[in-house]
Amino acid sequence: MTELVLRELRKTYASRGRPPVEAVRGIGLELRSGELLGLLGPSGCGKSTTLRMIAGLEAVTGGDILVGGGSVVKVPAQRRNIGVAFENYALYPPLTVAENLGFGLAARRRPRREVAARVRGMAERIGLTELLDARPGGLSSGQKQRVALARALIREPDVLLLDEPLSHLDAAQRDTTRRELKRIQKDLGHTTILVTHDQEEALSLADRIAVMKDGVIQQLGTPYEIYDSPANLFVADFVGEPAINLLPGVAGADGCVRLSEGVRLAVPVRLAAGREVVLGVRPEDLRLVGEDTAALRARVGAHEPLLEAGIATLALDGVAGPLVVQTGPEVRLDRGETVRVSADPRLTHVFDAATGEALR
Ligand SMILES: Nc1ncnc2c1ncn2[C@@H]1O[C@H](COP(=O)(O)OP(=O)(O)O)[C@@H](O)[C@H]1O
Ligand SMILES: [Mg+2]
Repeated sequence: MTELVLRELRKTYASRGRPPVEAVRGIGLELRSGELLGLLGPSGCGKSTTLRMIAGLEAVTGGDILVGGGSVVKVPAQRRNIGVAFENYALYPPLTVAENLGFGLAARRRPRREVAARVRGMAERIGLTELLDARPGGLSSGQKQRVALARALIREPDVLLLDEPLSHLDAAQRDTTRRELKRIQKDLGHTTILVTHDQEEALSLADRIAVMKDGVIQQLGTPYEIYDSPANLFVADFVGEPAINLLPGVAGADGCVRLSEGVRLAVPVRLAAGREVVLGVRPEDLRLVGEDTAALRARVGAHEPLLEAGIATLALDGVAGPLVVQTGPEVRLDRGETVRVSADPRLTHVFDAATGEALR
């Protein structure tokens, strides 16, 4: 099994007549052997560029990549033994699924019998046995993504790189394939980076998540750490659905933060009076309560009752922007109705308004 280490990895795309694009700005990561790391960030933040450098499909501008302790930046792509499955499956249309799976092994002059046995074994594992004689053109997008995954795995790579591997699946397929992928990755024990812009996918699949923005890692942690203790406003806002409420305010002498003249919230950190902050409160950490002086009064703007939980969009007096609250499934609210909401100070996140960094 193999560790993967990135040190100060950089990529600047330079093209004549245009300003250079600093796609990756010195990132460092250490993956333990067998770990599944989710590389999560919005489109254009440098995720694919990072994978392409590790795979050897893109030259690095600076920094180092170590696979199993040895630098690979000067090793050509075909000698890195890294399995890749990218978003566009890049299957060969004239070949059958079996031939697509065996192609890389055959190209490396493995004996025919060995190739056939490995293709059968992998097909069984990934649930492709029935499709071995089919051609890519006749497969659903979910089946194609499974073939691409099997093809990446069959070479028994030291490191597995998956770039948005479930992006073409519909919601139901994505759920089952996600579970399958997690099981296969744990069974085979490949050190894996899974790139995604989908926070839910990263939260459900990854052992640890690296959140990336503008070519820089914003936070590295377990899904719980990322969700429960976001390091800055970007991470707080990017992870979580519905999104966290972000409420600007000013600290008062009483240790509370004022969101407006009459609206204040207790916070879990000691702040100097007058300090400008942004509070983050997740919709599921807010409660509708009965009469209670400590609670916030709010007007109901809208309520979407859902199956497991409802989502209420509320307005607080003098506070710009809505307050989104998760409600119980039995709750019924009318537009314009006045309700009371309470927040648990221990679950209220505080960020510096100027830097966006979490204050703990
Ligand atoms: N071959 C290239 N030439 C110039 N700029 C590129 C190239 N590939 C990617 N970029 C730019 O680098 C940045 C990161 O791209 P990419 O790694 O594809 O992001 P992501 O995969 O996170 O969406 C983007 O601004 C993108 O436009
Ligand atoms: Mg990409």
